[in-house]
Amino acid sequence: MSTPETALKIKIFGSPALREKAKPVARVADEHRLSLSQMAQLMYSSSGIGLAAPQIGVAEAMIVVDIGSGLYKVINPRIVKRRGRQSNQEGCLSVPGVCIKVRRAKRVTVKGLDENAKPVTIDAEDLLACVFQHEIDHLKGKLIIDYASLLGKLKIKRKLQELKAKSEHEELPQSETKSCPLQL
Ligand code: NI
Repeated sequence: MSTPETALKIKIFGSPALREKAKPVARVADEHRLSLSQMAQLMYSSSGIGLAAPQIGVAEAMIVVDIGSGLYKVINPRIVKRRGRQSNQEGCLSVPGVCIKVRRAKRVTVKGLDENAKPVTIDAEDLLACVFQHEIDHLKGKLIIDYASLLGKLKIKRKLQELKAKSEHEELPQSETKSCPLQL
């Protein structure tokens, strides 16, 4: 059943949903199209450039991406080709207030399905490639903090404890989401 728009919230670090592995969608249905449009709305209203289904508590392989050049809604996305290297300071809507330098492929080819179950192939580079890799990580239960160095992990330890305590009380520290230019 559909969830009222107002009830939709981005899961914050500490929520077990963020560490779950998303299941592949076996048959694309209206519920998936609804989730994808809700995800897009939430991404835009949070000034994000990507969002994955586990971030709204849906453990299915779906992502939305828009870096300003158009909206991608991709079901069962997988990376079939990686080339080159890039690194960016990444933020995550589910880990507000934290910025981590993440090394990723510079170019990727992503295959998956669109919301009408048609196969799609996307060749992405630079920022777009970075966002696809970040969102596909979410489907594996992987977060930017997993890329932090040992020292980096120590530095954000207190912040993560704070977030965990807040997520248990369902408070979204919105004031902190702007700490990193890239919110994915
Ligand atoms: Ni994220």
